[in-house]
Amino acid sequence: MTPLLNRALFQLGLELKRLPTFDTDDASLLYYRGLVELIADVPGDIVECGVGNGKSLFLLGLLTEGGKHTRRVWGFDSFEGLPPAQPEDEKASKQPIRKVRAKKTTRSEAHLRWMILRYRLRPRRRISRRQLQQRFVFVKGLSPATFSTYAGGPIALLHLNLHRYQAHRECLEYFEPKVADGGVVVCDRYRGFKSIGATRAVDDYYGGPPPGFRKSEHARGWFLVKGAS
Ligand SMILES: C[S@@+](CC[C@H](N)C(=O)[O-])C[C@H]1O[C@@H](n2cnc3c(N)ncnc32)[C@H](O)[C@@H]1O
Repeated sequence: MTPLLNRALFQLGLELKRLPTFDTDDASLLYYRGLVELIADVPGDIVECGVGNGKSLFLLGLLTEGGKHTRRVWGFDSFEGLPPAQPEDEKASKQPIRKVRAKKTTRSEAHLRWMILRYRLRPRRRISRRQLQQRFVFVKGLSPATFSTYAGGPIALLHLNLHRYQAHRECLEYFEPKVADGGVVVCDRYRGFKSIGATRAVDDYYGGPPPGFRKSEHARGWFLVKGAS
């Protein structure tokens, strides 16, 4: 509902921030399940840059629980404001966007933990306190200052769900070389109707539209399998 409403509001220079619910929708589930299936045989951690309300991190954590490889799930986020937009983020529309903020967005790492414990995958699958403690690592701060905190080895899945050109570039430069062969790089905002910066950053990093980068049939994200093209 929110994306449809936002398409209409966008014309007026407004945007309604997504209201998190504690249920996951079927499209997201199919999207993340498809990505996780691709890495079934690839050892390594999950790294997400841009955690927001933690819904994608919740799904990635849950869907990789009990798999062939033990994985940690890393979430990098400022958990507060963003750096200012750069010229590379210039919108197609010249109209400035005013955000109509919904109340339930993540306010802190503690709030994110609280949210993740409440998400449910129908009928009753969830992340337990123990799993949260053992597998999830949250790193607070603006990119790229916090990236050296990453203490994992090869990355099986790198998920970019950020705002802005600079953040995408920094994440790709630091984390993409750590993605294992056969691992997956995912960018949710590539070619998004108001995410010029994300598209430019990915294309600049790879020296053009990355070979093998394709749109998921289930959701807006684009992904590639490293070394496959
Ligand atoms: C769209 S939200 C992520 C949504 C989330 N993956 C989900 O499924 O709910 C984008 C997040 O990226 C974070 N972010 C954007 N730019 C950043 C930067 N330069 N450094 C750290 N965090 C950043 C924001 O704080 C925000 O929480």
